[in-house]
Amino acid sequence: MLRVLLGISGGIAAYKGVEVLRGLQREGAEVRVAMTAAAQKFVQPLTFEALSGNRVYTELFPEAGDPEVIHVRLGEWPHLILIAPATANVIGKMANGLADDLLTCTVLSSEAPVMVAPAMETAMYRHPASQRNLQRLADMGYRLIGPEEGALASGSSGMGRLADPQRIVAEAVSSAVTFGDLSGRRIVVTGGRTEEDIDPVRFITNRSTGKMGYAVARRARQRGADVVLVSGPGNLDPPAGVDLIRVRTVSEMRAATESSFEGSDALVMTAAVLDFRPRVVSDAKIKKNANGMTLDLVPNDDFLVGLGARKHGRIVVGFAMETENGLANAQKKRVEKYLDLIVLNNLNESGAGFGVDTNVVTLIDGGEVEPLPKMSKLEVADRILDWVKDRWT
Ligand SMILES: Cc1cc2nc3c(=O)[nH]c(=O)nc-3n(C[C@H](O)[C@H](O)[C@H](O)COP(=O)(O)O)c2cc1C
Repeated sequence: MLRVLLGISGGIAAYKGVEVLRGLQREGAEVRVAMTAAAQKFVQPLTFEALSGNRVYTELFPEAGDPEVIHVRLGEWPHLILIAPATANVIGKMANGLADDLLTCTVLSSEAPVMVAPAMETAMYRHPASQRNLQRLADMGYRLIGPEEGALASGSSGMGRLADPQRIVAEAVSSAVTFGDLSGRRIVVTGGRTEEDIDPVRFITNRSTGKMGYAVARRARQRGADVVLVSGPGNLDPPAGVDLIRVRTVSEMRAATESSFEGSDALVMTAAVLDFRPRVVSDAKIKKNANGMTLDLVPNDDFLVGLGARKHGRIVVGFAMETENGLANAQKKRVEKYLDLIVLNNLNESGAGFGVDTNVVTLIDGGEVEPLPKMSKLEVADRILDWVKDRWT
């Protein structure tokens, strides 16, 4: 799991640190927060404490009786130190190796990479001292994100606005690539539902929300893989740093998956692909009719079979959602579709299936059947990725 120490310094944009914190958490990162004294004038530590679920670090000198040297311990903990927002003052201190508070002292005593998102008024940003300090940070290998142009706290508009929090989160997560255990691998994930038109205003679909596929894509990216997510329609926030291809129909999903599978090391098919589509798609809206109507459906191609048959040593993982005879059906499906692993979800279990954040699955490979307890979809994603990684090594 990506561990981020989020440093908040004392500018108006300190409140946007909350958005950065939430974004990092959404990506599954563990976040600890350190605040400067000035930052606490803008936002109460309690806000960050409640949202991060951890104490907020503010004091360089421990309370009486606490033997720990906090900045050293805190500096050893993160994979990444992210300072957002970074004031001109904190940038100046870091550029010159000053360490007179907990945040700057931790930065100086840590070996973790540092990302800095400056935020200040335009004149402050343009000042030669700030420019020199930012250049120094860049020369030391610190990564700078922004600032951007836009509305500033003073009411004016110009350069100096904190980079968009979502962009900061995406860049922070992408930095995980350097230490992730899947780094150098390319994984294609399909997720969500598909739709097939009946006429220009109606379509058929299913209940998949994409949560499982998005969890696999998110964790694979956080663990360093290059990830293509082929996603059906849905409302989920795309995971940061993945290459997202949006599709609607089975044939669109097939085309995107087949072309992405070229040059990749594994395919994880979580999408709930429609088995049927209307035989005829009406060009005009079908009129209401007192006798009702019968929808004539024909089977869609199961393109997973073709992909499995042509996998040439790449790993292919499929999902099975069964309501009865789960184990036997899933085992049959694994063989028929040339899958290395099939993940069986049982819709009858509570905490499993569509729309929820947990899942109850059984991993089935050639020999073994491994039932897993109820866990979050991110944890299920990790178990699948662990299995795939073991196959590669
Ligand atoms: C209302 C107000 C807004 C401020 N906004 C910023 C800002 O956006 N960027 C900045 O660099 N400094 C800003 N400052 C100045 C910093 O708060 C000041 O330099 C402080 O010493 C920074 O401390 P720190 O870097 O330890 O957090 C602001 C000050 C006030 C009073």
